[in-house]
Amino acid sequence: MVEKYIFGSPFETEAVTACMEAVGFAGKVICGEISLEDGFCYSYQMDDADVIYGLGEANRGINKRGYKYVSNCTDDPNHTEDKISLYGAHNFLIISGKRQVGLFFDYPANMCFDIGYTRQDMLTVRCERADLYLYVITGESAYDVAKQFRKIIGKSYIAPKYAFGFGQSRWGYKTAEDIETVVKRYRDNQIPIDMVYLDIDYMQDYKDFTVNAERFPDFPQFVQKMKAEKIHLIPIIDAGVKIEDGYDIYEEGVEKGYFCKREDDSDFVAAVWPGWTHFPDMLNPDARAWFGGKYERLTSLGIDGFWNDMNEPSIFYSEEGIKALNQAIADYVKDTESDGDVMDNANTVPGEVRWLMEQLQNNPEDYRRFYHNINGKKVRHDYVHNLYGFNMTRAAGEALQKIAPDRKMLLFSRSSYIGMHRYGGIWTGDNQSWWSHILLNLKMMPSLNMCGFLYTGADLGGFGSNTTRDLVLRWLALGVFTPLMRNHTAIGTREQECYQFEHIEDFRHVVGVRYRLIPYLYSAYIKAAENDDLYFRPLGFDYPDDRRAVETEDQLMLGNEAMIAPVYTQNVSGRTVYLPEEMKFVKFMPDGSIYEETLSQGTHYVEIKLNEVPLFIRKGKCIPVVDAAENVDAIDLSTVRYLGYDGAAYEIVE
Ligand code: NOJ
Repeated sequence: MVEKYIFGSPFETEAVTACMEAVGFAGKVICGEISLEDGFCYSYQMDDADVIYGLGEANRGINKRGYKYVSNCTDDPNHTEDKISLYGAHNFLIISGKRQVGLFFDYPANMCFDIGYTRQDMLTVRCERADLYLYVITGESAYDVAKQFRKIIGKSYIAPKYAFGFGQSRWGYKTAEDIETVVKRYRDNQIPIDMVYLDIDYMQDYKDFTVNAERFPDFPQFVQKMKAEKIHLIPIIDAGVKIEDGYDIYEEGVEKGYFCKREDDSDFVAAVWPGWTHFPDMLNPDARAWFGGKYERLTSLGIDGFWNDMNEPSIFYSEEGIKALNQAIADYVKDTESDGDVMDNANTVPGEVRWLMEQLQNNPEDYRRFYHNINGKKVRHDYVHNLYGFNMTRAAGEALQKIAPDRKMLLFSRSSYIGMHRYGGIWTGDNQSWWSHILLNLKMMPSLNMCGFLYTGADLGGFGSNTTRDLVLRWLALGVFTPLMRNHTAIGTREQECYQFEHIEDFRHVVGVRYRLIPYLYSAYIKAAENDDLYFRPLGFDYPDDRRAVETEDQLMLGNEAMIAPVYTQNVSGRTVYLPEEMKFVKFMPDGSIYEETLSQGTHYVEIKLNEVPLFIRKGKCIPVVDAAENVDAIDLSTVRYLGYDGAAYEIVE
């Protein structure tokens, strides 16, 4: 059962698609208490055994208990354990214990979830203004609650099948030649691949929807050439539009009034990769349609996939921030009569200047400095901050549906809010080449699925820091199962394409396993999307009465047939796995054979070498497996056979 409560005058985020009468709160107790005295505060006293699921793309565990999280879409590339805000804002929780209750706080600004941080047994959810919708979902189990929630937020975006192929990316590929080298080396080494990503350097001076003509002398022909080699090029699109006379998108946006404005109606100016930019007003339906229409510049050249970036929106610094800093420096120079450059010696920089320098990036003050024009109403950005990335991707998604109504296109975003799952997937942003981030990747997946985001994945191998061969291999062995399987890394880091390491055959094998499983994985994905179901689930969803299963956070259920348990520690030759019931342990061996062993319910130590991919098949189930292929189009369904339990059947869908 779903109940909708209204508090104050909520902003219509369009996260929920189901039509429902809202009831006024009138002091009713809603599985917990609500206070409207100082903003909005929901509180609930947790039982010892309560598990709190949800929050989508958030830090730490699958069970969110024991920390606090703030929904505030933030560009922060350093996901250490203490970080409370990442790129997305997904305000959905499930309390699972004696009661099974889902709570969706539909509120697009800063919201704090204190889940046993201040007091171990208290869950509190607070926001500054009591203007929101609260959806309360009661069900038989956490899984049931999640599925009911999924029903009211509308169907998830479905990615094309090619997007289940492997993708290679690196911030730093600059020219057509760079891309061709990547493709050639993958093909020469017979490592399957379907996508190469174009990061910001393909653009002319980081201008959206432009292509650098020197680096890509004949881009349309290059796209076709890659197509012929079965490679989809996936360009990045950034939120900020470069301010430059003669750049038509900038000029049009100014003329039509489609950029976010300051209080005095001048266009807000922020620096991102291109230097000074304006932010398209993605919350203004006309501006959204206008920006979305620009994707056609690239689709008309044969591009059929995009990744939307920097759309929190990320701000390196604003004009106001720089002015304040310059003033502080000028005052310092005047006061000390120093003619030296304060930047020369950071140690002599006075506190005020230092503080201003540190505050420049993603400064909350900047998010209060600009406004949206939403159907004629001026809305300050910080009131709706968490909707920006959602609406950028909505701009693209709606436009792509118009441009090619019969064709699925790949689309995913960095920043998101619930509702965006109808338009695209997400990737989990700038992780690091750390072992702990394999586990973080795994833990985010089911939480994202609860919020509708099915086409998801992390930067395999790690974005920041230098990676190692074993880390890439182990991470790929998780990536084999995530809908988005992309190796991506930052400029300046160690090269981490699969062919950069010794024993390339191991990489060929692990990526090859992905292709052997695509008929299964894509089917499981389509079934999840069509049935408002989850592709990845915590074990507690399937085995709620098995405490050991509920507390297992390094394994996931996949589809209705499988369980994954990747290795995420260095220098080990296997791992311990908990089986809530008898299962078939399957290992894809480097010689192409498949090892199968029936394991009883309980704890097992399983050996998994660096070049082996483990998978578990549930009792009584089977999954299809085919021969490896160079690309998705080359998958030969006539080679299908079934792994798992005899007598079981599986329906492949596309
Ligand atoms: C930030 C994104 O998160 C990252 O993936 C990308 O490589 C850089 N921006 C450069 O575009």
